[in-house]
Amino acid sequence: MTVRKAVMPVAGLGTRVLPATKAIPKEMLPVVDRPAIQYVVDEALEAGIEHIVFVTGRNKGAIEDYFDRAYELETTLQEKKKADVLDELRARLLKPGAASFVRQQAPLGLGHAIWCARDIIGNEPFAILLPDVIVKAERSCLAQMVDAYDKVGGNIIAVDQVPEDRVSLYGVIAPKARDGKIIEMSGMVEKPPRDEAPSNLKITGRYILQPEIFVLLEDQGAGAGGEIQLTDAMVRLMEKQVFHAVEFDGQDYDCGSKAGYFEAVLAHAIDHAEIGAEARAMIKAVL
Ligand code: G1P
Repeated sequence: MTVRKAVMPVAGLGTRVLPATKAIPKEMLPVVDRPAIQYVVDEALEAGIEHIVFVTGRNKGAIEDYFDRAYELETTLQEKKKADVLDELRARLLKPGAASFVRQQAPLGLGHAIWCARDIIGNEPFAILLPDVIVKAERSCLAQMVDAYDKVGGNIIAVDQVPEDRVSLYGVIAPKARDGKIIEMSGMVEKPPRDEAPSNLKITGRYILQPEIFVLLEDQGAGAGGEIQLTDAMVRLMEKQVFHAVEFDGQDYDCGSKAGYFEAVLAHAIDHAEIGAEARAMIKAVL
């Protein structure tokens, strides 16, 4: 069955980039000229996703507004004959009915956030994209995963290599057999101590999972950091179903951290069609 739906958990408080995120959701921070979440939605659409479930929380209304039409703004742009800006705005809208918003009522962890989307996903394979992570790639990271899914089915996790002194910040997979970019997995662990990590392949924040994960998430106890972890439920699902990792082509940026966010802005600025050359010159001048 094709992957039609995606979950984006956007309930997080963004404490690592305070005070920038005190009054606006971290997902709405601009990366050059678009909010961070737009890059992640574009990635999903490029992979053929037709419906996105945003798992939100309090003070996240700006995300809902962003994907809705803004009549006053559109009328003003029309009157001022700014057709190009208007076209760009309209092109970014999701199709009517193609987004759902569900609230995670308490910050119990990523696993719990995903479980909150169960009724809307129903009984079909689905994608998860963590919007803290922006992946810059020729072919969208999720599209590369869908390619792999079409070959091997089951459950797919995007991974990339991380320096060994950083493995304890992520979920880490245990690789078994490799076929090009596709790696059969034998295990995974959430935020392992450096000397217990099964590899240096970190879970990047992109998943294609079978709906049986929801049954496991329902009674999943707290794990690393006292939170209900998606990784722990995936470890249990692995007893019954196959998991593959995809070492995707592209570069990921952790916009949930100050340095990662800054790096994402730099990387997108220097490649930007309108300001790229200027941005490169500016960076040189500042240095
Ligand atoms: C989450 C996942 C982790 C993954 C990471 C990627 O952790 O639990 O497995 O490696 O995202 O960014 P978090 O960053 O929410 O602590």
